Amino acid sequence: MKAAARFSADWLALREPFDAAARERSAALVRRLQARRPEDGPWRVIDLGCGTGANLRWLAPRLGGPQQWLVVDRDASLLRRWSAQPGFTRRPDGGLRRDTPGGPVEVRRQRADLAIDTDLDALPWRAAHLITASALLDLAGAAWLQRLAALAATSRAALLFALNVDGRHRWTPADAGDARVAHLFAAHQRRDKGLGPALGPQAAFVFAQHLRERGWRVSLARSDWWIGPGSSPADSGPMQRAMVDGMARAAIEQAPAGAATVTAWQHRRLDAAAHGALRVGHVDLLALPPR
Ligand SMILES: C[S@@+](CC[C@H](N)C(=O)[O-])C[C@H]1O[C@@H](n2cnc3c(N)ncnc32)[C@H](O)[C@@H]1O
Repeated sequence: MKAAARFSADWLALREPFDAAARERSAALVRRLQARRPEDGPWRVIDLGCGTGANLRWLAPRLGGPQQWLVVDRDASLLRRWSAQPGFTRRPDGGLRRDTPGGPVEVRRQRADLAIDTDLDALPWRAAHLITASALLDLAGAAWLQRLAALAATSRAALLFALNVDGRHRWTPADAGDARVAHLFAAHQRRDKGLGPALGPQAAFVFAQHLRERGWRVSLARSDWWIGPGSSPADSGPMQRAMVDGMARAAIEQAPAGAATVTAWQHRRLDAAAHGALRVGHVDLLALPPR
């Protein structure tokens, strides 16, 4: 079933601090990237499926130095929100710029569909030092990941793909309905979101395999969300409730006949949200081109 997935700015804003905290757990990958800082000019970065800019907000300060980002998304409403990017000024050509002690960070926005046979091939792959995305790979299908690996091979860029779900969910306290909902949610995750029937939790590992076969040096590191007591941000209630509602909605869409069971699970989970916790497994991928 194909339905271009939409991601609301509210959802992206709600998850961003959890993403940021999760990425601290895989920060060793970025430290390896820092060693590849270009000597003769700015980092040239392509951010695929950029949303409202969470990847740039986390990564740009850690990359350091002058940077030129091309940020790409098919959703014009999310791209428009970049105009209010904190600390950036808008230039007459629509680009954005922020002056930092390490040098300017410049951003150019491009509305493009990344599906195969649309705008994907035309991106400036050869000019990039870094191709990155956050929360994108698990939306992609097998053919798209093959294509991405082939396009990456035409460049000498490093690849950093963060926050790819790996299928692990652990609720505390456990509920008898968790496994059923997780099963339906996983099936829903594998629907076609516009980049082919999604590989969901397998995507990062399949992509890693394609790259290794092409001689890339691939490293994976966990970047799990922790949503519960002691999490950052401290008030995890809204995020936990959004996860419960989102999983229930997907499970019911996947198996409408089981709606009553899922709704009962949803109510128990919402009741438990104030004292419960959820760990969601993610994996980040860093790939360096063959020497
Ligand atoms: C889960 S969101 C992640 C957004 C952002 N990277 C972040 O971490 O907040 C996935 C993003 O990919 C974009 N996207 C999905 N499929 C796309 C496609 N075929 N072409 C371009 N953008 C796409 C969506 O519009 C959305 O902004």
